[in-house]
Formats: sequence, C-alpha cells, structure tokens
Amino acid sequence: MSYILIIGAKSDIAKATAREYIKHGYDLYLAARDVNELEEFAKDVITRTQKTVKLVEIDILNYDSHQAFYDNLEEKPLGVISAVGYLGVQEKAQSDFSEAKKIIDTNFTGVVSLFNIIADDFEKRRSGFIVAISSVAGDRGRKSNYIYGSAKAALATYLSGLRNRLYDAQVQVLTVKPGFVATKMTEGMDLPEKLTAQPEEVAEDIYRAQQKDKNVIYTKWIWRYVMMVIKMIPEWKFKKMSI
Ligand SMILES: NC(=O)c1ccc[n+]([C@@H]2O[C@H](COP(=O)([O-])OP(=O)(O)OC[C@H]3O[C@@H](n4cnc5c(N)ncnc54)[C@H](OP(=O)(O)O)[C@@H]3O)[C@@H](O)[C@H]2O)c1
Repeated sequence: MSYILIIGAKSDIAKATAREYIKHGYDLYLAARDVNELEEFAKDVITRTQKTVKLVEIDILNYDSHQAFYDNLEEKPLGVISAVGYLGVQEKAQSDFSEAKKIIDTNFTGVVSLFNIIADDFEKRRSGFIVAISSVAGDRGRKSNYIYGSAKAALATYLSGLRNRLYDAQVQVLTVKPGFVATKMTEGMDLPEKLTAQPEEVAEDIYRAQQKDKNVIYTKWIWRYVMMVIKMIPEWKFKKMSI
C-alpha cells in the first residue's frame, strides 16, 4: 500500500485532490478536525475504488499533538499535502489580535509545526514529497487581505528553505499558489470567471506538478503572469491602488 496524507481534508480543494490521487492508485490518510464529517465522502471513495481511506483527527493549532499524530500513523505516508487555511476577516484582524493570530497560526505556524516533524522523517528515509497550498495573496501585500497574505508569504518562504534543505535527501517540496478558486472559502464573492479555477482543476495541477517534481506552481497557470505584472507595479503607485 502507498499512503498519501492529506491535511485539511474537508476543504473542497483537498477533496478533489484526494479523488485525483485515489484515481491514480494511492491509498489515503484524510486528516481534519471533526474528521467524522468525512465518513460519507470516504465511504463513497472506497466503494468506487476499493482503495483504503483512513480518517485521522488533527487540529493544526494544537501543536503539542502533532508528534503523536504522526507517530500514530501505522504506515508512514509517501507524501503529505496540506490544504489547511483560514482566510479570516481582514478588518477584524486589524484591530483584534486574536483574529490576526488565528490567521497567522492556521496558515503558517501550525503547518510549520507539523511539517518539521514530517520533514525529519522524510529526510531520514531519503524519500517523500511535501506539498502545501499557499496563495497568490502572499506575492504582494494588499489592504484587503494582507494579514492572510503575509502568513501565506511566510509559508512560501518556509517551503523554499525546506526545499533547499531536503534537496540532498531527494525529498520534493512543492508550493502551490492558487489565484481564485470556487470553494467554501470564496462562497458569495464576486469572482471573475476567467481567473477562477474549480477545485478539480487545482487538484489536477497539483497531481501533475507533484509527479513531474516541480517546485512552485500557480493555478490557474495564468496567475503566474498576472502576479508578475502586479509585482512590477512600483510601490509609490501600488499604495494608491485598490486591487
Ligand atoms: N479558495 C481560494 O480562492 C483559495 C485561493 C488561494 C489559496 N487557497 C488556499 O487553499 C487551501 C484550501 O482552501 P479552500 O478554498 O478549499 O477553503 P476551505 O474549505 O476553507 O479549506 C480550508 C481548510 O482548512 C481547514 N482548517 C482550518 N483551520 C484548521 C485547524 N485548526 N485544524 C485543521 N484544519 C483546519 C478547514 O477545516 P474545517 O473544514 O474544519 O473548517 C478547511 O477544511 C487553503 O490553504 C486556502 O488558504 C484558497
């Protein structure tokens, strides 16, 4: 058997990614808080594919539980994919530090806590892959979401260093930077159709990039060029804009 560990498995992107990996013959550990809510999903996947799906409880903010969480996986995974994230409310986070901290800790600190443990194991085994979903929001700070964006930027920088560290151990580290994706997180937002991906598209991009040993991807791919342009705008001009 060959397990992939998916963290934040209740997310729409994570579920689509789970289907993508199972379609290609992998077994799954699906990890989430209140993981029993995934029982229906797991049953459906098992019936269709006859593969093994195990549900495991994790709270990314409960750092002290992460070592035991990983130690308790009977068979260590071939790779880990994190879809954990919390957009939060920017305006609230500007004046209520507990909201800011929740955004930072969910998108960054918690993932670091868990990935440090998994990275040590993969480094010793000299195999494995580590994938995390960051965001284009981390490429440049904007007034509408800079606390979330800065947490995602920190995550992308962490992954870059981890990639550099694990290169000699032949462990792949893939940073995924989605633009807009139609999920629970963006429900009710008025998103431009041409720039908005479906979770299934993101899942296919993740699978393809992981199999091809890529380092960083944008999804939809056009976001690489959108962000290139956005990053080129000089700061004196950017600070006056509302984009
Ligand atoms: N949708 C977009 O436009 C977009 C764009 C760029 C990047 N992203 C990133 O893509 C990833 C997936 O997002 P999504 O759009 O599918 O939204 P989502 O459904 O809100 O996914 C986020 C997942 O993180 C989980 N999570 C939050 N706090 C957690 C905690 N303390 N412990 C464990 N799990 C926790 C949530 O679990 P619960 O279900 O229990 O709340 C949820 O399943 C996130 O990292 C997000 O930041 C999304």
